[in-house]
Amino acid sequence: MQIVDKLKIDDTLKMIQHVKAPGRMNLIGEHTDYSGGKVLPFSIEACIDIKLYELCEDSDDSKLLLQSADFVGALSVSMNELDVLGDKEEDILSHIPQDIKEHWSSYALGALYYVHKSLNLELRKSYLIEIDSTLPVGAGISSSAALSTGLLSILYKELSVDKTKEAIAKEAMKIEHFFTGTKCGQMDQLAVMMPKENHLISVDFENFNDDMSFSLKQVETHSSFKNYTIVGLNTGVQHKLSDSPYNQSREACELLLKLLKEKFDLNIPALGSLAKDHYLEKVFAVKKDVLSQDLIKDKLESMGLEYSDDRTAAFGSHAIWENVRVDNAVEALSEGDFDKLDKAMNESHLSLQNEYKVSCEELDFIRLVAREKAEELGLSISLNGPAIIGPRMTGGGFGGSTIQLVHNDILDQFIAYFKDEKNAYQLKTKIKPSAIVTKLSSGLRFI
Ligand code: GLA
Repeated sequence: MQIVDKLKIDDTLKMIQHVKAPGRMNLIGEHTDYSGGKVLPFSIEACIDIKLYELCEDSDDSKLLLQSADFVGALSVSMNELDVLGDKEEDILSHIPQDIKEHWSSYALGALYYVHKSLNLELRKSYLIEIDSTLPVGAGISSSAALSTGLLSILYKELSVDKTKEAIAKEAMKIEHFFTGTKCGQMDQLAVMMPKENHLISVDFENFNDDMSFSLKQVETHSSFKNYTIVGLNTGVQHKLSDSPYNQSREACELLLKLLKEKFDLNIPALGSLAKDHYLEKVFAVKKDVLSQDLIKDKLESMGLEYSDDRTAAFGSHAIWENVRVDNAVEALSEGDFDKLDKAMNESHLSLQNEYKVSCEELDFIRLVAREKAEELGLSISLNGPAIIGPRMTGGGFGGSTIQLVHNDILDQFIAYFKDEKNAYQLKTKIKPSAIVTKLSSGLRFI
């Protein structure tokens, strides 16, 4: 395998498959997917376009050439060269050749690895894969999940390998685990693949850690939400989870679950299970209607459990209570209750900022600027609802974007404000923010 020059695409090349893999935003339910909790994401309109061309090569050696309009150099690889990565997924990272590790395509290599593992036959043809994207990288809207699910889907289709969307989502998650080292959950990959047009998906990962099953529902919004538009505000601070303490939070949550199961003799698969009324009451000995995240944190702190990380009670209280907020948000969406959704989204952000500590100054600041600006714009006209719902950070955090629902009557002015370089965020941080305006879109689709 090697990095070579890109191939010029002209009329002699025949395009045989074309897939669009969207990015995702998460309305609420953050840092819960790997703790057996609930999430409420959706596909956005911006997407990665992947086109597969057949190459007429004379040699017997079938090759794949992978290139992207946004990056220099193409990866050229034949399937049997993937054997150098070995069979043990845990060791793959150490086997990726250095020049490829430094190239964007080391991530794409992950998709080829799993396709190679699933193929019974030798590849008979050579292919060019051309990748084009309207998804900003590092904006926390899952360009990587879009790339991996898109590559896996297009190759499995072309090579007639039967895989369900769920199986593809699982492999795409493993690419994240073994090709970047981030032990993420499976929210992003499902959000890129599963939503129907105009729907969010509500996913409960309660049994995911045991048997990798989950329950997934398509969620429609109440008609009153048609007065609002979904806006992401990209802080311009690149989020990269493999360098962040993401894996440590996951480990702390896993340890907490183990300790709680032992102490209370619980037979539960996940920390997320504790958001159920009977477990809440059994473990925290307080009725659900008087419980709060703060109270859960206090109780977790005073239980005398031997945490290896002193932030564990804070992590745990978020991992449990965020699920209650997701339930409230799902209800709010179907009832058309803007205040309830706004409360859930704001509390979610504050919990991620102050307890889970995965936000950053820029996210916290742009959120305040957005809220203040929208409210100010709303004062001059009479709106049939709040000017803004949210905002909260969306995705893994440590940079990336916020999500908010902005009332249509102030939308243009709101967007214009963030385009103007005199917006308060840019003045303070010297970083140009960008707005991602989207509808609820449908998941990965072949064209
Ligand atoms: C990243 C991960 C997801 C999820 C979110 C936080 O996007 O890939 O699995 O954990 O962070 O909700």
